[in-house]
Amino acid sequence: MISNHLLFKLASGEVFGQDQPIALKLLGSERSLQALEGVAMELEDSLYPLLREVSIGIDPYVVFEDADWALLIGAKPRGPGVERAALLDINGQIFAEQGKALNAVASRNVKVIVVGNPCNTNALICLKNAPNLQAKNFHALTRLDENRAKCQLALKAGVFYDKVSNMTIWGNHSTTQVPDFLNAKIDGKPVKEVIKDTKWLEEDFTVTVQKRGGVLIQKWGRSSAASTAVSIVDAMRSLVTPTPEGDWFSTGVYTTGNPYGIAEDIVFSMPCRSKGDGDYELVKDVVMDDFLWGRIKKSEVELIAEKRCVAHLTGEGNAFCDLPGDTMLPGEM
Ligand code: LMR
Repeated sequence: MISNHLLFKLASGEVFGQDQPIALKLLGSERSLQALEGVAMELEDSLYPLLREVSIGIDPYVVFEDADWALLIGAKPRGPGVERAALLDINGQIFAEQGKALNAVASRNVKVIVVGNPCNTNALICLKNAPNLQAKNFHALTRLDENRAKCQLALKAGVFYDKVSNMTIWGNHSTTQVPDFLNAKIDGKPVKEVIKDTKWLEEDFTVTVQKRGGVLIQKWGRSSAASTAVSIVDAMRSLVTPTPEGDWFSTGVYTTGNPYGIAEDIVFSMPCRSKGDGDYELVKDVVMDDFLWGRIKKSEVELIAEKRCVAHLTGEGNAFCDLPGDTMLPGEM
């Protein structure tokens, strides 16, 4: 569902602009091959001037060949009776395999965006299995959370959502994620100067953003798809266009060398800026208070536990699962 929205946006030039032809290589499984053929037919029939090639396949070592961007969307949703540790293992195997294939055949400068949940830990598994690629180029998608947070702040403040800037999502794409209202701005002013209701910010706003994906599943009967595709486009565009002066965007990236004191060697969503060359740097001038730091720590603890749980997939020995019981993927409510 996500891909079906995303592919048409990519083909229409929404990310790379109207002067950049594009080739789409679609990776499916034996089970999804027919559907993939259907999507490819629809793409061809759309006569996009920029779309020069659509190919499909089920072997990542073929499909990922020379890829400049790898958007890793497919993952198994957690079904009834499936332990979170088991889901980490099942999906982790997909991303370990895809990491190995990217390592072997993708462009040496490939940018990887992991969307399939649990996306932070899947991104960590993927980059650990791709030692010849730069860990910095692996992202876990938290742009959807950023967009959700901007929307909620705009609604509360009664402004259009383009007035909300500097919106960081810290941490894991799970219910421990931290939408940062301390550093965010509305119309250039700190959020707390515009929205004076601290209880709303700390409780309602935070929880609404954290659980938005789950509420949507309850309403729709399936995960977010169109808004996820939009946020993937936003995430890519943020890396290929210069970040507006003074602003930043959120993406889940490898923590090694971070200036905030967050544990090294995990994939954590943090504020970033880009010159538009596909690369990014972490924003240094953010402020912390006890509320923000306490929440960040909780998400960090969760990600460290997830990492221990997939040690067998990252080449770091035997896995040991002691996941905090009170946290969930957004869709697991
Ligand atoms: C979302 O945030 O909408 C999704 O990640 C939810 C899910 O678990 O599929």
